[in-house]
Amino acid sequence: MHTGSCRGGSFHFVGGQNPVPPSQCRYLASCYPLNVSSFPPPTHLTLLLLNTFARFPILMGKNLMHAVQYHSYGGGPAALKHVEVPIPTPSKDEVLIKLEAASVNPFDWKVQKRMLWPLFPLKFPYIPCSDVAGEVVEVGQGVKKFKPGDKVVGLVNPFYGGGLAEFAVVKESTAASRAPEIPASQCAGLPVAAQTAFQAVTQSIGIKLNGSGERKNILITAASGGVGHYAVQLAKLGNTHVTATCGARNIELVKSLGADEVIDYKTPLGAALKSPSGKKYDAVIHCATGIPWGTFEPNLSSNGKVVDITPGTSAMMTFALKKLTFSRKQLVPLLLIPKGKNLQILVNLVKEGKLKTVIDSIYPLSKAEDGWAKSIDGHATGKIIFEP
Ligand SMILES: NC(=O)c1ccc[n+]([C@@H]2O[C@H](COP(=O)([O-])OP(=O)(O)OC[C@H]3O[C@@H](n4cnc5c(N)ncnc54)[C@H](OP(=O)(O)O)[C@@H]3O)[C@@H](O)[C@H]2O)c1
Repeated sequence: MHTGSCRGGSFHFVGGQNPVPPSQCRYLASCYPLNVSSFPPPTHLTLLLLNTFARFPILMGKNLMHAVQYHSYGGGPAALKHVEVPIPTPSKDEVLIKLEAASVNPFDWKVQKRMLWPLFPLKFPYIPCSDVAGEVVEVGQGVKKFKPGDKVVGLVNPFYGGGLAEFAVVKESTAASRAPEIPASQCAGLPVAAQTAFQAVTQSIGIKLNGSGERKNILITAASGGVGHYAVQLAKLGNTHVTATCGARNIELVKSLGADEVIDYKTPLGAALKSPSGKKYDAVIHCATGIPWGTFEPNLSSNGKVVDITPGTSAMMTFALKKLTFSRKQLVPLLLIPKGKNLQILVNLVKEGKLKTVIDSIYPLSKAEDGWAKSIDGHATGKIIFEP
């Protein structure tokens, strides 16, 4: 007799032929809450049927999936629980995606730490992560752009959550198509991190990605991180000189992404944000945290601006003060406004080989808590990816 266990139950096989692989057993456990060992020895036909239903639980009328969720604020990686929950149903303007990859952003664990409350109040239990890529398996009645079988990338509504799972729903308006040859892991980092970089580069600073436009000197802080590494590549598609900061171990990587000058943020030059060639910055895309306005100010050109993607209280006060005093040097807080059409531009850039995702690490969904801990640690190089 073969005996095994899986989340949600245990399974027993009498007869010893072809036990169903553990990767499929969670469906069996949920579809068959009976003690299977009380059945007669399975034949090849019964095993085939069991395997079929294991692969397509929807046929059994039990639409369950593996997901990772938490039940209250706080607790970090240890609070993530592996569960079996119903596969969500897409509403009128949504598509249901069978996920091939998802990615974590600092936003995800900041929400868990209640750092963004009351802006993002959660309903528990909550499945974290918003960035997803996979294949459409079902569409809502009103969906026009996508059909089952399409490869897509999208942004799960963060108020409801849902990315750390085998299936997720996203609104048609926040999704983009992906050519099947582009790996899902290359696209799963785009919805939040690359869209934030895109918004900063093209809208806040006004850089044109076709290289036209006035030449600008740009500083990008934390250029090795999720947002920063996309920002360097996008800024270099425009007519820019990019100075970037990162840790010593990532200097060569950030240069390879296109940065003209790279400074180690732990050196005096890096801490002062000084361009080695003495350039003043027309704009800063500030992806690090904890750097005061006084450090930026002497490095800015006469009407330079700092686009702060993590504005705290002091940054918001600087923003208000600079506005009220009509200062030519400005601090601009940025909040991502996700748009499917921007995401599509980014996916197309990946397809054309003009933008790539640097992958820090890939974790199976079964080890989601390890990837979560890695993101909280704050030292990822590029994106942390999960695969179901
Ligand atoms: N406003 C919005 O809508 C929006 C959207 C997306 C993200 N964000 C925020 O933007 C921030 C960055 O996000 P992310 O995804 O890029 O983070 P991330 O990937 O976790 O950033 C980690 C990277 O930052 C580097 N780093 C940390 N401190 C640094 C410093 N002082 N100088 C230079 N490099 C430094 C680290 O290098 P080492 O390992 O060498 O230390 C590491 O490579 C987060 O606070 C996030 O919440 C805001």
